[in-house]
Amino acid sequence: MIEEPTIAGVRSTLDRARADGATVGFVPTMGFLHEGHGTLIRQAAEQCDVVVVSIFVNPLQFAAGEDLADYPRDLLADLALSERCGADLVFTPSVAEMYPHGAVLTGVTVPQLSTTFEGAARPTHFTGVATVVTKLFAIVGPCRAYFGEKDFQQLAVVRRVAADLSLPAQVVGCPIVRESDGLAMSSRNVYLTPEERAAAPTLHHALQAGADLAAAGERDGAAVEAAVAGRIAAEPRIDAPDYVALVDPDTLERIATLTPGQRARLLVAARLGKPRLLDNVAVAAAT
Ligand code: PAJ
Repeated sequence: MIEEPTIAGVRSTLDRARADGATVGFVPTMGFLHEGHGTLIRQAAEQCDVVVVSIFVNPLQFAAGEDLADYPRDLLADLALSERCGADLVFTPSVAEMYPHGAVLTGVTVPQLSTTFEGAARPTHFTGVATVVTKLFAIVGPCRAYFGEKDFQQLAVVRRVAADLSLPAQVVGCPIVRESDGLAMSSRNVYLTPEERAAAPTLHHALQAGADLAAAGERDGAAVEAAVAGRIAAEPRIDAPDYVALVDPDTLERIATLTPGQRARLLVAARLGKPRLLDNVAVAAAT
């Protein structure tokens, strides 16, 4: 496995691989890798000849006052995990390599998917994500690109950017990897105290209860959301959620009434101590 900090180095390595007929799998990350990232890398390794992982804590997607400066980092452990999971190349650019002119004057925005939910709490976040992902796709070139359903809205934004701009990346969504008690794995879980960590799986259990209710015949979106919010309210360590939302999985539009058999997604974000935790589950309405 090679660690490569330059854009030119990544381009030439991958261009050579493609010229030899290899397919490229790409897993973009911000590092501090865990089994969730590991699963994306392993899936890429199963489905592609050459796998590149990027590790870049992207300043554009953090607003002032967010955790950019203290975002957790552990490059050596990240390289070891990447290698173990089958990565061939790890792109580790500096901020100067990615943004040599300092200010970035060009932005990629998808307003219709970026102003609700995470975008309401973090108004500049998805432009930062969409811009860096577009840039990373331009660097990596034709590939299959693996993203987690953990960040469900991000996945919807990235799919739309790739489609609207005809980027040569085929976006692949991958299921959420959870701890054994149900907590969705996240680099930010290290911020949780032991007591908060013990309370954290409530989010997943609450979502699952909402999905079960819909599967059992509840058709009223607000009632499903209220059931989830009620379960979370019973855990005093978790703040009132920023949102609990039953949405269409593609448009992210809220669903007022489920139709028989309808597929939907139930999203939640809530602060628990320092971090805001995100989670979501698939919903299949009763037939
Ligand atoms: P990061 O939070 O490091 O996540 C990198 C990828 O891993 C994302 O696609 C995310 O959805 C996925 N992931 C994280 N936890 C997961 C879990 N428990 N199960 C499955 N997949 C999981 O998301 C970003 O970085 C950045 O916004 C990025 C796309 C790299 C742009 O900077």
